[in-house]
Amino acid sequence: MNKKTWLVTGTSTGFGKSLATYLAQQENVNLVATARNIQKLSYLDQFDHGQIEKLTLDVTNENDINNAVNNAKVKFDTIDVLVNNAGIGYFGTFEESNIADARYMFEVNVWGLVNMSRAVLKIMRPQKSGTIVNFSSIGGLASFPTLSFYHGTKYAVEGISESLAEEVKDLNIKILLIEPSGFRTDWAGRSSKKALPSISDYQQFAEFIEGNENGAHHEAGDPDKAAQIIYDQVTNNSDLPLRLPLGKYSSDTAIQKYQSSLKSFKELHKLSISADTPKQ
Ligand SMILES: NC(=O)c1ccc[n+]([C@@H]2O[C@H](COP(=O)([O-])OP(=O)(O)OC[C@H]3O[C@@H](n4cnc5c(N)ncnc54)[C@H](OP(=O)(O)O)[C@@H]3O)[C@@H](O)[C@H]2O)c1
Repeated sequence: MNKKTWLVTGTSTGFGKSLATYLAQQENVNLVATARNIQKLSYLDQFDHGQIEKLTLDVTNENDINNAVNNAKVKFDTIDVLVNNAGIGYFGTFEESNIADARYMFEVNVWGLVNMSRAVLKIMRPQKSGTIVNFSSIGGLASFPTLSFYHGTKYAVEGISESLAEEVKDLNIKILLIEPSGFRTDWAGRSSKKALPSISDYQQFAEFIEGNENGAHHEAGDPDKAAQIIYDQVTNNSDLPLRLPLGKYSSDTAIQKYQSSLKSFKELHKLSISADTPKQ
């Protein structure tokens, strides 16, 4: 059997844990499950028949990244699928957000994903095959108040992924963006710091922030189902899309956003192209 090696970041909870649990039970998978604290990966022990490697990996630490990629290569000889899942959130208005927290979120959500991908591409490029699955969000396509910096990270992931996909397609390396709406994970709870509005002009957004915190683990999306869909797409879809919205809210919002953008671009078309004509 031709086994594929999957390396997944952030497998302690949420999507990462669901995906690692699912992958651990597939006969054709070698799994490199990574987390900042590998004590949190003992849930995998029940499935381990020598095909699972648990490794410490904080995606903001370049030594951890190099160690994880090297160890994976030594143990399984190849990395076929990288899942850049690790990520955090931040709720706060644009003016009131703590910039140090926002910067750290870029370190995790953007630069962590970038550095992981660059390390793994060194393996995928010579083998002329591979898939990189990047966790974006519906928040990488459409925007909501109090999430400006989170959107900044996920729009960055979208742009980087779209460009990278063009660069590596002839090397038989595919990029898949996962764009979930709300799923029952730790994201809206412990994984997202919150800055409640203190400026009276922004008081109206307090309810939205608190609603997200209180709604954590009650969202519509099932991360176990997401895991099955992601595995199935990567394994069986020879015509992998670049973007995969997950959840009804995500799919409906993506369609609506693109339709309204298309309408606006068409309405502006004449004016837009007039900018190429020299000023009289
Ligand atoms: N759940 C949703 O509704 C939703 C929607 C759209 C997109 N997403 C995206 O889905 C991805 C996974 O999040 P989730 O929903 O599964 O939330 P989660 O349950 O909070 O899981 C986040 C994971 O990321 C890990 N992590 C955080 N910082 C890290 C770092 N510096 N290095 C390595 N791992 C780190 C966490 O590890 P620790 O246990 O060590 O903290 C945890 O394993 C994120 O990229 C998120 O933006 C989630």
